[in-house]
Amino acid sequence: MLKKISEKVFAVLSIFALAGLLAATSQAEAAPFKVGPKKCQECHTAEAKVWEGTEHFKSFKGIHKNEKAKAIVKAVGDKRMKRSETCTICHYSEEKKDAGAKPKQVAGPSCESCHGAASDWITVHNDYGKGVKRDAEPAAHKAERFAKAEAAGMIRPSKLFDVASNCMACHGLARDELDAKDAAAMLDAGHPLNPGFELVAYSQGTVRHRFYPPNVTENQEMTPAEMSQMYVVGQAAALVSATQAMSKSDHAKYKAAQEKRIATATAVLEAVKGQVPEAGALLSDPSVANGQALSEAVKGKDLTGAVGGMLPKEFK
Ligand code: HEC
Ligand code: HEC
Ligand code: HEC
Ligand code: HEC
Repeated sequence: MLKKISEKVFAVLSIFALAGLLAATSQAEAAPFKVGPKKCQECHTAEAKVWEGTEHFKSFKGIHKNEKAKAIVKAVGDKRMKRSETCTICHYSEEKKDAGAKPKQVAGPSCESCHGAASDWITVHNDYGKGVKRDAEPAAHKAERFAKAEAAGMIRPSKLFDVASNCMACHGLARDELDAKDAAAMLDAGHPLNPGFELVAYSQGTVRHRFYPPNVTENQEMTPAEMSQMYVVGQAAALVSATQAMSKSDHAKYKAAQEKRIATATAVLEAVKGQVPEAGALLSDPSVANGQALSEAVKGKDLTGAVGGMLPKEFK
């Protein structure tokens, strides 16, 4: 009798334990999802206004009607660009109300395309602590807040190599989610792959949003020194992205574009390696870790002596 009861209790407990375990694993494994640009806009009105002036924003209305789009969609075996999972990787933002909800296409590339899907960091990244104002937040709390946000998938502006690598993945047709066969088919059907995508030129025109304290109402232009840093970090990200992409596909057009990106980046890094040894290390081993190290090393440096003449004069 006693044995029977204890067996029953054990069985019931096991079910609870199993249910708990399943809930825990499904929570741990649930991928972060996008909450959508409207959420960000609630607090970041100035940044949202800038975004609304970009091609990223405008393309949502009409890119699927582009002449080439139909042929490109067909080439990957889909019927409509907006319904194609392949096109969605780079062209659309899918937002979800909660983890279980059906994703809804709400925009072109948007805030979370560049800053990371925010479901797990949106309430963390701005939390100064209960009742604490921005200026009173202890340094240790701030460091912990940002460490938590990054662990939850936030791509922070201060980690410029990570931000740049993410642009390069879309603009270099190098995203992991994009199948090599689809990339080749897209190129054959006329999809562009621009090896001249360069971070300063493409981020300091329509895309620029730099409302940093203390002038939070002013969209600040970069100084030439800041531009020289960003230029070098952008090329570092291009080198790493293109090197990885070289092993992704044997398609001739794809390889030629990646080779061109590597050649340009190599010339820039050669020009600064005397001043920044980390650039030399990256050239001999184009890894993500070496790219991140270079990005930290150029902070506060004026590299205009080495790359000033290469900086773009016009911005997209
Ligand atoms: C409830 C208000 C609020 C919402 C909603 C919000 N943010 Fe923020 N965000 C802030 C505040 C406040 C800061 C400044 C934090 C600080 O002082 O360090 C900030 C900072 C940032 C930063 C700069 C962080 C850094 O590294 O210095 C980025 C990038 C950012 N937010 C992106 C987003 C995105 C993308 C969304 C939408 C997914 C979003 N935020 C939603 C309030 C918000
Ligand atoms: C890996 C990211 C990526 C994927 C996947 C992707 N695109 Fe693109 N697409 C881009 C980028 C980046 C541009 C802008 C390129 C530029 O202007 O240099 C672009 C531009 C375009 C253009 C504009 C061409 C022009 O000449 O104006 C069309 C049309 C297009 N894509 C269609 C598609 C279709 C259809 C799919 C799905 C089969 C798709 N793309 C998948 C990144 C991607
Ligand atoms: C094309 C990629 C891209 C998109 C889209 C984008 N950002 Fe950014 N964001 C960046 C980059 C790059 C920086 C770093 C700028 C710098 O420091 O020069 C940045 C910086 C920021 C900052 C810190 C500077 C500031 O303005 O306070 C915030 C906050 C921010 N972004 C929020 C947003 C929000 C909100 C959206 C959507 C409305 C958005 N971003 C869309 C790339 C992007
Ligand atoms: C999720 C993929 C994705 C990411 C990440 C991304 N872009 Fe884009 N970007 C696109 C697509 C797709 C287009 C083409 C839109 C169109 O032609 O309708 C585009 C177009 C642009 C354009 C307009 C191009 C032109 O010739 O006028 C600029 C500028 C740009 N991106 C800058 C950036 C910068 C800078 C970053 C990183 C800070 C970035 N993008 C990150 C997908 C992306």
